[in-house]
Amino acid sequence: MYQKGVQTMLESILSQRGITKIWDCSKQAYSLDQWEKRRVEILTLLCREEYGFIPCSLTSLRFDVVEDKQYCAGKVTLSKVLATAEFGDKSFSFPFYTSIPNGKQQYPFFVFPNFRDAIPNRCFPMEEICDNGFAVLSFCYQDVTSDDNDFSNGLAKIIFDGRERKADDCGKLAMWSWAASRVMDYAETLPNLDLSKAVVVGVSRLGMTALLTGALDTRFACTIANESGCSGAAISRGKKGERIKDIYNRFPQWFCEGYKKYIDNEQNLPFDQHFLVAAVAPRKVYVASASKDWWSDPDSEYLSCVAASEVYEKLGLSGFIHPDRLPEVGDAFHEGDIGYHLRDGLHDFSREDWLYFMRFLKRKFKI
Ligand code: GCU
Repeated sequence: MYQKGVQTMLESILSQRGITKIWDCSKQAYSLDQWEKRRVEILTLLCREEYGFIPCSLTSLRFDVVEDKQYCAGKVTLSKVLATAEFGDKSFSFPFYTSIPNGKQQYPFFVFPNFRDAIPNRCFPMEEICDNGFAVLSFCYQDVTSDDNDFSNGLAKIIFDGRERKADDCGKLAMWSWAASRVMDYAETLPNLDLSKAVVVGVSRLGMTALLTGALDTRFACTIANESGCSGAAISRGKKGERIKDIYNRFPQWFCEGYKKYIDNEQNLPFDQHFLVAAVAPRKVYVASASKDWWSDPDSEYLSCVAASEVYEKLGLSGFIHPDRLPEVGDAFHEGDIGYHLRDGLHDFSREDWLYFMRFLKRKFKI
């Protein structure tokens, strides 16, 4: 652990990589109101320069349960729900799934944008999660809008209606994140969910989605980004593996078009990704990495937690509690408001990741 006031090894890595402080350095403590103002500035910056704004607003939202069945040997009710959103005279629907244990108490729950809609699937040990006393509300991201440059389907069709995207109009990550918040709207209508213990979680591009959701939507008590890498949790300046150039050239649809000006130009970003991690404050945030996921760059994901801790500490919270070194396989830092682990293996969503997340949540939620 490090001594306050002395530059640590990690702080010197951050300064060599050109990582700036999030807040005015002259003050050591801030109130939540002051943070709320700074948080809004940061979110505006992140949306304007990276993820884009959703340029229209919802006029109504309806949910219809279309199927209910008993699942996991009768311990869980699995339901399929259709969300229908209206934007003026245009409407759009997407399905999602709720897996809720059948007991009488109110359950903490995950909102989980997922790659597929099948339950269970390889990213998602559903029975084990429910046996641990958590519910899951999941959806398949491509049911919201396709993961390609086609902006004429699903939510994208409603938003753009054939018009060109402007530089700060939303990319697809922002649309998937919008959908996660609509699933949270539904959660608010269910009596058997504990709304004070809502968690948004995702892996990879959907880890970026989860992080953006938790930064924008304050109803989530915890946000978990599993291997979210470039343009997710990992700081961009000095990053190894995937860079903005790689991600934008392969997946331009994920971002606003203005983001391309940072290709090979990370030093001119008016923020870095630790701003996104910190924008979740004062709520809990958790970043997870895998040792062989060199494309995401675990060290850069970890350093983002180190740098984001500033905000938590200035709010009088515990922030990120970690040793003064880079992470090693098997590390799990669960003491502070920012959680982190580095598991062995490749880029994926492993059962081991879920077990770490639930361990952290049980500790933080005191369950
Ligand atoms: C690609 C991409 C990553 C992304 C990943 C995923 O590897 O380059 O940025 O995280 O896909 O979403 O699985």
